[in-house]
Amino acid sequence: MPYPLLLQIFNRIGQRVLVGPELGRNKDWLALTQNYTTSLLQGTNTVRAKYPPALRWLAKYLERDVKMVYKQRQRGAALLSPVLKARLAAKTEKPTDTHHDAIEWLINEYHRTGRKVTAEEIAQDQLGLTMAAIHNTAATVLSTLYDLIDHPASLEDIRREARQAMDQHSGINRAALQSLHHLDSFMTESLRMHAMPEVTVQRLALVPKTFHDGFHVAAGTQVMFANRQLNHDPDVYPEPERFEAKRFYDPDLNKHHFASVTDESINFGSGFHACPGRFFAQDVIKLLLASLLVRYDFKYPEQGQKRPADMADNLVVYPNVTVPLLVKELAL
Ligand code: HEM
Repeated sequence: MPYPLLLQIFNRIGQRVLVGPELGRNKDWLALTQNYTTSLLQGTNTVRAKYPPALRWLAKYLERDVKMVYKQRQRGAALLSPVLKARLAAKTEKPTDTHHDAIEWLINEYHRTGRKVTAEEIAQDQLGLTMAAIHNTAATVLSTLYDLIDHPASLEDIRREARQAMDQHSGINRAALQSLHHLDSFMTESLRMHAMPEVTVQRLALVPKTFHDGFHVAAGTQVMFANRQLNHDPDVYPEPERFEAKRFYDPDLNKHHFASVTDESINFGSGFHACPGRFFAQDVIKLLLASLLVRYDFKYPEQGQKRPADMADNLVVYPNVTVPLLVKELAL
């Protein structure tokens, strides 16, 4: 399945939650949010490659990529403005009128902290959230699909489990998702083996800190934790280079592991700034994988082809997004 299609799917799901039904179905907004993620990545790479930190402020006047980012933010504000105005007006008229989306959460947070709500600010926040939300999820699905193709017996277990869950719960709802233990274990193992961020919990020490054992961190020090190394540490995960589909399978405890943040798993960061979207990511990834696997079969075009090597860039590891997959509809 081509990566751009997955991005489109996750953008549509994500926008429905971030901006609600009015804008979430608006074709211009959907195109803008998806394109913005590409412009921002390109713009950031250009700035990093060409400008020393002291001259970075110049890039927005000189670089096409960077100018595009600013232009798209303006366009975002223009599209968001009527929706925001209507929301604010409705809130004044009837304060109990609430919406379950990030426009509402942002308005509440701005009011709580005494900041002025403007379309420019909220649009920029929404575009930032989109950035955090869609590439990670799309890439995780692609990465998990590659592993599923390489582990056909596990794929059958997962397919059977998904069909049972759908029968039992009359479709895929939250209860059905919660019963997908094989899928959860497989996704968690796939994430462990191919976690995208090589480092997580990146922080800047604002004040000096000396730990109990005497380890000292001076103010201004940048700190980060070796996520990839932890995921492959034999003291934490026995035989870490072996893909074990059932490593995290534990239906009796009724525990789900994919979005867990623990001392052994920092794929989603840790502490106060741990990824707030991880449970949403867990649910939408399961939803999409379960729906796809019960309807379709996937394989590589070449006989005997295996998962392509991951690609790495700037401390981020991606599944190879250039490999085509063949998709066949299953007889139901
Ligand atoms: C598989 C998918 C995802 C992965 C692997 C992932 C991973 C991460 C990581 C490693 C961090 C940094 C945490 C830290 O520094 O402690 C983070 C932060 C964040 N993520 Fe995610 N994320 C995913 C999906 C999402 C989704 C779907 C959303 C939103 C709907 C989201 C929103 C955010 C936000 C807003 C932050 C910043 C939190 C803060 O700084 O306080 N993420 N994510």
